Amino acid sequence: CLAKSSMNGFYLVSSSSVLFTCPLPAKHPGVLRPLPLCLVGEMAIPYYTGRVTDWIVTEARTPAFQKALWMMTVFTVGSAVTEFVCDYLYNTTMNRFHTRLQSTVFASILRQEIGFFRASRTGDITSRVTSDTDAMSEALNHDLSLLMWYLMRGVFLYGMMLWLSVPLALFATVALPFIFLVPKLTGKFYQNLAQEVQESLAKANEVAVENFEAILTVRSFANEGGAARSYEEKLQETYKLSEKEAVAYAVNMWTSTLLGLALKVGILYYGGRLVTLGQVSSGALVTFLLYEMQFSTAVKVLLRIYPSVQKAIGSSEKVFEYIDRMPKISPSGTLAPQDLKGHMVLKDVSFSYPDRDNSLVLKGVSLELHPGKVTALVGPSGSGKSTIVALLERFYEPQKGQVLLDSRNLQEYGHHFLHQKGKGL
Ligand SMILES: Nc1ncnc2c1ncn2[C@@H]1O[C@H](COP(=O)(O)OP(=O)(O)O)[C@@H](O)[C@H]1O
Ligand SMILES: [Mg+2]
Repeated sequence: CLAKSSMNGFYLVSSSSVLFTCPLPAKHPGVLRPLPLCLVGEMAIPYYTGRVTDWIVTEARTPAFQKALWMMTVFTVGSAVTEFVCDYLYNTTMNRFHTRLQSTVFASILRQEIGFFRASRTGDITSRVTSDTDAMSEALNHDLSLLMWYLMRGVFLYGMMLWLSVPLALFATVALPFIFLVPKLTGKFYQNLAQEVQESLAKANEVAVENFEAILTVRSFANEGGAARSYEEKLQETYKLSEKEAVAYAVNMWTSTLLGLALKVGILYYGGRLVTLGQVSSGALVTFLLYEMQFSTAVKVLLRIYPSVQKAIGSSEKVFEYIDRMPKISPSGTLAPQDLKGHMVLKDVSFSYPDRDNSLVLKGVSLELHPGKVTALVGPSGSGKSTIVALLERFYEPQKGQVLLDSRNLQEYGHHFLHQKGKGL
């Protein structure tokens, strides 16, 4: 793809795996000329690998070659079929997992005590059911599958590399940290600069806003020129920073490409020596190179997705916190007597709301409700009438004292039984 970044007049030329920046003025007619050059670097390695393979093929006996072709076909078809099955199984499992996760979180939230709903904002609770489970499933679906896939791939490829040639595999292993760490460091440098550019741009915007807002002052001091100059100065700062940023970006891209290339050349050189010494066959060297390329890709992908897997673990912790949360109200009992009379007693009850622990709403209240009799609770607003009703419904538990129904503690009754009967209270 070819994309123009209008900010600094750069052209980004990207192929599937490598990004080059070609620092060219946007209006230059020869802007596309270096494109083939950029691409030649990409094409060279597979081309020469192919040439080497050609050479082996002409040397080899035809039946052995045909057998190898057949084996390759069988393995490719086999791996395509298993990949299809794996994908299908993985995706359906993940979809089922997502649905079940959402309903589990929802059910465990519904189980919580009323105080929990009062203390947490509805938006927070809802986002646990929706966005957090979404993020978690998404990460599991995408990143975890990639992580597992590339991890296994990496282990297998490395095993094959070791099997082909231990010294070559060790050579590649020693070089790998440089290939990934150096671009990471230059990448960090680039990101810092990119942030500085953003900040400096924000400062320039601030100057513009300040001047527009204080337009009367600017006008009365006839300071339009000064304002324009101070804005221009800020813009110049931004421009200088973005120049640096562009260089850092190119260096970052080039180091990773160059180091990758250096490793391949190194392997070719060292491997070539091993071939001339007769320690490794030429075919094994070609295979090794192909494996090494896939192995580098696997390591690159693993390094890239590891942070998002960690992020997913973060959001999964929040989800599990809700699933594992025990309601702060004692579990209901199983009592469900057929002959319930409905005699309710509040015995020396003291109560404060969970989110206001230190202010007692009820202090040693005792009260009796006789079945078949109308009892009126009378008192000024905020005196605790609704609170008493909430305690009778067992939305809360008193800190001190007892709430009795037919001389049995309210919590001994079954949850469904209590609330079906409670409607008649
Ligand atoms: N959910 C709650 N969380 C914290 N405090 C509450 C809550 N509901 C009521 N209160 C407080 O408890 C006291 C009693 O309220 P309430 O029982 O609603 O009074 P009434 O129904 O008699 O007007 C008041 O001071 C009120 O502010
Ligand atoms: Mg009330």
